[in-house]
Amino acid sequence: MTLTALGLPSVHRPLAAQPAPTSGPLIDTFGRIATDLRVSLTDRCNLRCTYCMPAEGLDWLPKDQVLQPPELSRLLRIAVTRLGITNIRFTGGEPLLVRRLEEIVADASALQPQPEIAMTTNGIGLARRAEALAAAGLTRVNVSLDSVDAAHFAAITRRDRLGDVLAGLAAAKRAGLGPVKVNAVLDPKTGRTDVVALLRFCLDEGYHLRVIEQMPLDAGHSWRRGEALTADDVLDSLHGHFTLSPDPRPRGSAPAQLWQVDGGTGTVGVIASVSHAFCGACDRTRLTADGQVRNCLFATTETDLRELLRTGADDDAIEGAWRKAMWAKAAGHGINNPDFIQPDRPMSAIGG
Ligand code: 5AD
Ligand code: SF4
Repeated sequence: MTLTALGLPSVHRPLAAQPAPTSGPLIDTFGRIATDLRVSLTDRCNLRCTYCMPAEGLDWLPKDQVLQPPELSRLLRIAVTRLGITNIRFTGGEPLLVRRLEEIVADASALQPQPEIAMTTNGIGLARRAEALAAAGLTRVNVSLDSVDAAHFAAITRRDRLGDVLAGLAAAKRAGLGPVKVNAVLDPKTGRTDVVALLRFCLDEGYHLRVIEQMPLDAGHSWRRGEALTADDVLDSLHGHFTLSPDPRPRGSAPAQLWQVDGGTGTVGVIASVSHAFCGACDRTRLTADGQVRNCLFATTETDLRELLRTGADDDAIEGAWRKAMWAKAAGHGINNPDFIQPDRPMSAIGG
């Protein structure tokens, strides 16, 4: 059997000839099982990160197309009780812009078997809400932070809000939303120095830094191969300042390659989504704020569950449509193929 660069069989794939199963785990034709659901709650954001959105923002989804909390609740129940989803992550845009977030979290947390509930946020406004979110059942947060230098932060996000993000991080730690992770997408110009200061800061505060290679998901389609910093660039930048040794623990489906820092308990993760794709171990399924299932960040087709919800479909029909969507999942993102096509939907409307 030949293996593709993504670690998946390229020729022998007997499942592909069969229809999607109607029960059991949420499986695709490569045998991968999705247990991790990423839910984008809104496509809006209060930052304008250069690698994500233009300065003027985007045309937001019309309100009537965004799922109402009861509609979302129903889909989450189907996901957990029928499809075997064990982990739910709320993302955006910026999920903290959703006023009823605590209610949505509490609803998800009441499901049986109780899922792990996490959130990826830019941290703005988290200082005020961390405690209520933890009480509602949120267990962990990932806070996006690309630089601890106020000027660099403002240049990357086009907003002068570093203080709010740091306050949000501290509140998350106090509220027990840990281990608190910091997600960084490095700027090609300042990233090599930013990452050193970021790691020092995270080690001091007890946050787990994870550096993510920039992917071609920006609204302006301005990503160019070779411009973004790679995982090797990141390690190179850190090596001059820290001693890194590979973390011996098995990685499983976690996308981050972990490194131990200076022989201590601190670690840094590097997510080489572009240079070393890990699609062969993918366990994710995604739901957009307007009720579309995506079987991959880079999918070019979606499955409309909102229409089903709003035209009286029963749970069996919705479950079946979701299973069919995942059955059709491609081997991998194909970013490195010459015929790669960037999806129309930008990251802010997919959720990280
Ligand atoms: N490539 C990689 N990561 C991205 N994020 C946003 N846009 C990109 C991109 N083009 C990250 C954010 C956040 C998470 C939701 O995804 O920084 O941490
Ligand atoms: Fe999974 Fe798609 Fe991401 Fe690959 S690109 S890890 S298949 S979501």
